Amino acid sequence: MNDYEKYFEANKKLWNKRVEIHYNSEFYSKENFLKSKNSLNSIELDELGDVNGKNILHLQCHFGQDTLSLANLGADVTGVDFSDDAIDKAKKLSAESNIKANFICSNIYDLEDKLEDKFDMVFTSYGTIGWLPDINKWAEIVSHYLKPGGIFLIVEFHPYIWMFDDNIEYLKHPYFHTSKPIAEISEGTYTDCNADIKMVEYGWNHTLSDVTNSLITNGLTVKSFNEFNYSPYNCFPNMIESTKNKYVFEKFGNILPLIYSISATK
Ligand SMILES: C[S@@+](CC[C@H](N)C(=O)[O-])C[C@H]1O[C@@H](n2cnc3c(N)ncnc32)[C@H](O)[C@@H]1O
Repeated sequence: MNDYEKYFEANKKLWNKRVEIHYNSEFYSKENFLKSKNSLNSIELDELGDVNGKNILHLQCHFGQDTLSLANLGADVTGVDFSDDAIDKAKKLSAESNIKANFICSNIYDLEDKLEDKFDMVFTSYGTIGWLPDINKWAEIVSHYLKPGGIFLIVEFHPYIWMFDDNIEYLKHPYFHTSKPIAEISEGTYTDCNADIKMVEYGWNHTLSDVTNSLITNGLTVKSFNEFNYSPYNCFPNMIESTKNKYVFEKFGNILPLIYSISATK
């Protein structure tokens, strides 16, 4: 992964900068979380099914709201993220909510140096794989951590969204993966477009076929693949709430898939 160190360093700085803003944001609404002890959406709740008693690895857990939500449903959860500020906040939120989970600060590509357990489930969601240069290596890690018969679930933004410019007005980037990252200046953040952040970020697009084939190549069997014509988050410019908690691009209405999910077993 050495070639990628520069990109990971820059992305980690950006995420560290975002964490404090996200932690205090209306978008993530810590107050609601502390009341409801749930930040998971119906898409992943339906697809995960009963998690009570399962041990779950949550990849790219940010500051842990979803990790703690899974723990509150009775799972034994380990959340991983490479942002030390995110992991610090996750531990703080765990104490504040009185929900126990295990948090590890690690680049997921280095996780095997820090975590030996195997899991009943591996889960990742909403804005994760676009930060990863090598989707096959990612799938290898997912497979490595699953027990035989274990379940993997990814819920992600549909990859064509990343083809658009920042204001979702025109197509700017290729749909297909390129080894050279998409380098952009990130201004503000999705929880506050006026936040005082102006930093470079590096991302990679991964097509639906690349994601699916990487899982199959690494020994998983795809059980379901779904697409949704809304996002549960108002996290892109120019979105409107079409029905409660379902956001679409104002310009396109509900004619496009915005989210996909893949569930697979090992
Ligand atoms: C959009 S957030 C995850 C979404 C999560 N569902 C949420 O909103 O709480 C993306 C996370 O990926 C983490 N991340 C990015 N690249 C990573 C890497 N190579 N290894 C581990 N974590 C990474 C960031 O620190 C960030 O917390």
